[in-house]
Amino acid sequence: MNRETLTWVGKWTFILAAAGSAVGLGNIWGFPYKAGTNGGGAFVLIYLGCILIIGLPIMISEIMLGKRYRGSPVSTMKAAAMESNNSSSWQAIGWGGLIAGIVILSFYSVLAGICLNYIFISLGLEGEIDSLAKFQEVTSSPLQLLFWHSVFIVITAWIIAAGVISGIERMVKLLMPMLFILMIVMVINAFINGNFSQALNFLFTPDFSAVTANTFLSAMGQAFFSLSLGMGAIMCYGAYMSADQDIYESSGIVAGLDTLIAMLAGLAIFPIIFAYGVEPNSGPGLVFISLLSIFADLPLGNLVGGLFFLLLSIAALSSSISLLEPSVAYLSEKNILARPIASSLLSGVAWFIGLGSLLSFNVWSELTFIGSRNFLDSMDLLANQFLLPLGGLFVAIYAGWRLNPAIAKSELGGSDFLFKLWQFFIRFVSPVLVFAVFVFQFV
Ligand code: PHE
Repeated sequence: MNRETLTWVGKWTFILAAAGSAVGLGNIWGFPYKAGTNGGGAFVLIYLGCILIIGLPIMISEIMLGKRYRGSPVSTMKAAAMESNNSSSWQAIGWGGLIAGIVILSFYSVLAGICLNYIFISLGLEGEIDSLAKFQEVTSSPLQLLFWHSVFIVITAWIIAAGVISGIERMVKLLMPMLFILMIVMVINAFINGNFSQALNFLFTPDFSAVTANTFLSAMGQAFFSLSLGMGAIMCYGAYMSADQDIYESSGIVAGLDTLIAMLAGLAIFPIIFAYGVEPNSGPGLVFISLLSIFADLPLGNLVGGLFFLLLSIAALSSSISLLEPSVAYLSEKNILARPIASSLLSGVAWFIGLGSLLSFNVWSELTFIGSRNFLDSMDLLANQFLLPLGGLFVAIYAGWRLNPAIAKSELGGSDFLFKLWQFFIRFVSPVLVFAVFVFQFV
């Protein structure tokens, strides 16, 4: 297919697809538990700052590069470097992105598989349940994890194999409205059955005594991950954007929707956490352990729980397809492999690496890889604290300092003021802050 003509059909598809990529486990599972363990309001405020002054300028840059050069992240960066007479090594940004996508997909799919499994566990709830024991039961069985990990990755691969228009576009048009409606239902449920004011207080009253350097690191990592930045997913989706679409506006809407869903997730979860006297700082188990025991108690809780985990699975699916797309786009644009074959092969690689993460819940739980971390935590660290921030840092340096500014200006359009504002942030603010936070983790 001629990639020049490959653009989203619907006017809103780019927004839906990019928001679908951004809104995922990071928002609904990660954000609430990180806000919970980092003291609530102050974390939320720092997170919002990171989205605005680090994330947004980088998102604008990724979309701009994708939209102009219209290829997979590797060919986009290569073409950009050629047009601006830079070294062709800048395409390493693209390669790093493809690798990060597969690494993230490998463990993302294991976690999303657990969400799929929990849809059925919740629907089958009858009265009291020992939710910690249930979580241990689910994660101690490699076969059960393997089954759901495989189901999730097959669905992902199948959508990507179907193509950009008949796969991705069709799915996000279906999934994103569903996700939004389910989220509203969950917030209404929390409003009726939970302690809403305590949750509002927890999320929006900053207590800076709880802030440490680590809060910044965690908030920035979360912002990158949540906006899907630093690995070319947004760049790749930008490559399918129609020429007349406004980049500033689209980036603002996508970042806004992502933030809105994270906040709504907090408002869906914390009111019931507080109403049932559960501590907000229970960590990654917040939705699987704390919430499940509450669903067991709630009127119609099995239905509410089933819907909640369906919501989580849908959000995960619209993100996982964007993790696979960049590398599949690369192989198929070069005509190295047909799209369905590329999709099966690369998802197979992610599936295989995912086995390590799956085993780290049980058989390999004592094995450590990076530092004292098990396989899953090591992959998570590699992606979130290294690959994504480095990817984002280099995108910022490239777009701010190496890309010919006249090209950026003509691609971004809009007023001089907006351009200067973006240029200021992408040159002096985003890269400096990412670098500072990145280096700080080693001291
Ligand atoms: N943004 C997704 C989430 O919040 C995860 C993701 C990261 C997707 C990077 C694509 C690229 O869950």
